[in-house]
Amino acid sequence: MTTVIIRGGTVLDQHGERPADVTIVDGIITAVGATGPDGATGADDMASAAVVLDARGCYVTPGLVDLHVHLREPGREEAETIQTGSRAAALGGFTAIVAMPNTEPPHDTLATIEFVRAQGRRAGLCDVVPAGCITVARAGVALAPLGELAAAGVHLFTDDGNGVQDPGLMRRALEYARPLGITLAQHCEVTSLTKGAVMHEGSCCSHLGLPGWPAIAEELMVHRDIELVRLTGAPVHFLHLSTARSVALVRAAKADGLPVTAEAAPHHFTLSDELLASFDAVYKVNPPLRTPADIAAIKAGLADGTIDAIATDHAPHPPEAKEAPLDEAPPGMLGLETALALAITELDMPIADVIAALSWKPAAIAGLAGRHGCPIISGSPANITVFDPALQWTVVPAQLASLSRNTPYAGRTLRGKVRHTIFAGVPVVINGRAQR
Ligand code: DOR
Repeated sequence: MTTVIIRGGTVLDQHGERPADVTIVDGIITAVGATGPDGATGADDMASAAVVLDARGCYVTPGLVDLHVHLREPGREEAETIQTGSRAAALGGFTAIVAMPNTEPPHDTLATIEFVRAQGRRAGLCDVVPAGCITVARAGVALAPLGELAAAGVHLFTDDGNGVQDPGLMRRALEYARPLGITLAQHCEVTSLTKGAVMHEGSCCSHLGLPGWPAIAEELMVHRDIELVRLTGAPVHFLHLSTARSVALVRAAKADGLPVTAEAAPHHFTLSDELLASFDAVYKVNPPLRTPADIAAIKAGLADGTIDAIATDHAPHPPEAKEAPLDEAPPGMLGLETALALAITELDMPIADVIAALSWKPAAIAGLAGRHGCPIISGSPANITVFDPALQWTVVPAQLASLSRNTPYAGRTLRGKVRHTIFAGVPVVINGRAQR
C-alpha cells in the first residue's frame, strides 16, 4: 500500500477553497480533512505514511491539463522526446498533456497513437494523450480514419500546424465527428493569406519591412467553422486564439448556444508583436504575437470565460533552427514550465478561475473529466498539483527540463511555482524536483 499525505495546504477546486490535508492511498484520494493545529489529519495516517509532502503556503489543486503540446517524438527527437516533454510538463504542474499530431509519422494511424501512449506510460510522469489527425498526413485532402481512432479512445482530432483549408472536407469531418462523440480542434489559418509571413501584419511589421500574417487569416476560419458548427451541431475547439475579433466571434457563437470552446496560449496574453523588432526568432510563433489591443482582448476573453482554457502550444525547436534568419526559422516557443507562473503573474483573474482554465475546463474538453481535473474529494483519482502562488523565480533556459531552450521568457521574474506534482498517486515532482 502506497500512502501519500499532502499536509498543510489550501485545497482549491471547483467546490471552492479550504484548508485541508489530503491523504492518498494507492492512487486514490481517501481523506480530505481540515488541518489540525499540528497540520496532521490523524495519527494512523501519519504512522503508515510512506511520503509526507509539505504544502504549507501552497494551493493544492486538481492536476493541470494542457490541451496543446508538441512532443516531437516520433521523428524530431533532437528537439524533444516524450520523456523530456513529460518531465517539463510534470515540473510545470501538468498531470495530463494532449500531444499534437504533427510528428513524423503523424498521428493518423493507430500504430502511431499507440506508440505515443506507450512512450508516455514508459516515462510515467503524466498522462500523454495523443490527438488524432483530422486528415491523412495532415495534408487536408482525405479524412484520417476517425472512426477507428475514436474506437481506440482518441477524443480530440486536429491537423494542428495546419488548418483544414477545404470547407467541404471540414464539413464532412464534422458530420462524422458528431455521431462518434469526438471533438475537432482547429488551427485557424487561411494559408493563402499567410504565405511567407513571419509576424503579425500591422504597423510594426510594415515598419520593420517583414512579411505579415494578417488577423483576418485566423478570423475567417474561426467564422467559417462557427457556421459549420451551426450547420452540423458537432463541437469545435479553437486552438491558440490570438486576435480580438476571434474572441468576439467565439463570444457571439457561445451566446448563440453553439458547442464551441477555445484556448489561448500564455505568449498571446503576455508578449506583443513589437518584440520582433529584435529580429530574434525566439519570438516567431504561429499564430504570431499580436498587438497590445489583442492581448487585452485575450485577457478579457479568459476573464469572462469566452476562452475556456489556457494551453501552452509548447513547441520545442533546437538552437540551430531558431538561430536561422527570421524567414527560415520555425515558429514556436516553449511553454510547459512557465504557463502557470505567467497566468498567475499576468492575469488579473481570481486564482480559482486561473486554475479552472488550466485544469478542469481543459480536462472536460479533452474528454478526460473522470481522470483529470477531478475535485479534491475522497474517491477521486489522485492527479494533483501543489504550487506556491507567491514564490518568485527567474526563468533560466539552461535550467528547464525541455531538451530545447527556445523560451521567450529568459531572465524574466515570475510569481508562482510548482512544489509537488502527484500523478496517479505518485509524487513525480517533490520540492520542485522531478523524481524520474
Ligand atoms: O508556433 C507554432 N509551432 N505553431 C504551430 O501551429 C506549430 C508549432 C510547431 O509544431 O512548432
